[in-house]
Amino acid sequence: MAASMRLLVRRVIRLSQRNINVTAAGVSARSGCCQGPSSCRCFSDDRSTHFGFETVPEEEKAKRVYKVFENVAQKYDIMNDAMSLGIHRLWKDTLLHAMHPQPGARLLDVAGGTGDIAFRFLEYVRSQQERQKRRAMRSMQTPSWQEISNNYSTEDEDGPQESRAVVCDINKEMLKVGKQKADSLGISAGLSWVVGDAEELPFDDDQFDIYTIAFGIRNVTHIDQALQEALRVLKPGGRFMCLEFSKVTNPVLARLYDAYSFQMIPVLGEVIAGDWKSYQYLVESIRKFPDQEEFKHMIEDAGFYSVQYYNFTGGVVALHSGFKL
Ligand SMILES: C[S@@+](CC[C@H](N)C(=O)[O-])C[C@H]1O[C@@H](n2cnc3c(N)ncnc32)[C@H](O)[C@@H]1O
Repeated sequence: MAASMRLLVRRVIRLSQRNINVTAAGVSARSGCCQGPSSCRCFSDDRSTHFGFETVPEEEKAKRVYKVFENVAQKYDIMNDAMSLGIHRLWKDTLLHAMHPQPGARLLDVAGGTGDIAFRFLEYVRSQQERQKRRAMRSMQTPSWQEISNNYSTEDEDGPQESRAVVCDINKEMLKVGKQKADSLGISAGLSWVVGDAEELPFDDDQFDIYTIAFGIRNVTHIDQALQEALRVLKPGGRFMCLEFSKVTNPVLARLYDAYSFQMIPVLGEVIAGDWKSYQYLVESIRKFPDQEEFKHMIEDAGFYSVQYYNFTGGVVALHSGFKL
């Protein structure tokens, strides 16, 4: 009882501080701050928001974000490798190691795009399952050949189907590319593709053990609403995990990273995908996203507990994690 009162008081204090910040920042947003690549993070008034460094009406942002990912879908995976020199694969692998999902777990990967997180999840639980079966076989004493063959045949039937991964994304083109990739990799068991908005998920309450969103939440218009939805669809005890570009902590690295992002990424976008503007938006949207601490508070305000974050590559990316009680 005392603990929940303390939590309530903490949340009220944090919200009132947030309101003060919003009011102060609202003045500068209206006076047109955030014109350059510096990492300013302005708030805007009730009906407008940011699309990269531009201020746009709220209802326009989702349409413009849709167009960006519709345009880049076919080249999305190649561009990810090119822009990050393949490092995005390590960030995603590390997410899976931190998650350490067990067979039977149900994952919802929101803004899942071309399926990278879901594929890794299914592969991870499959290898966990095999390891557990091998351990069980080793601990069996002098099994008959019949017992051994029975065990191996049930292993195949259970497979990773026990675990399920749902890839949910607002963009049909991204899902289409993901589905083609799954087909060519021969991944289908336990995997589904659902068109849906992070702010209004098409799932019942308390359905999933793990909710992930990788490089997706900064594109959402109302981040607080997406966090509420994450909380709603998770089972009690379920885990929220978000990978997102964040604030580089080392000033020298920050300068190099700014130069690389603004001078190289749109050029790569133009050369590889024939699309400068979409990649300019991607770079700008990163600078507009809250820093590690601020995002941590947003996740706590949504009602998650034990919220923590880990910086990858000096804060280029952060992994935030929290639990639903
Ligand atoms: C940068 S991609 C990330 C894809 C994938 N998670 C990955 O890590 O490769 C961002 C994705 O967010 C999706 N997205 C943007 N706004 C969304 C929303 N409101 N609801 C669901 N998905 C959204 C886009 O369609 C796009 O597929």
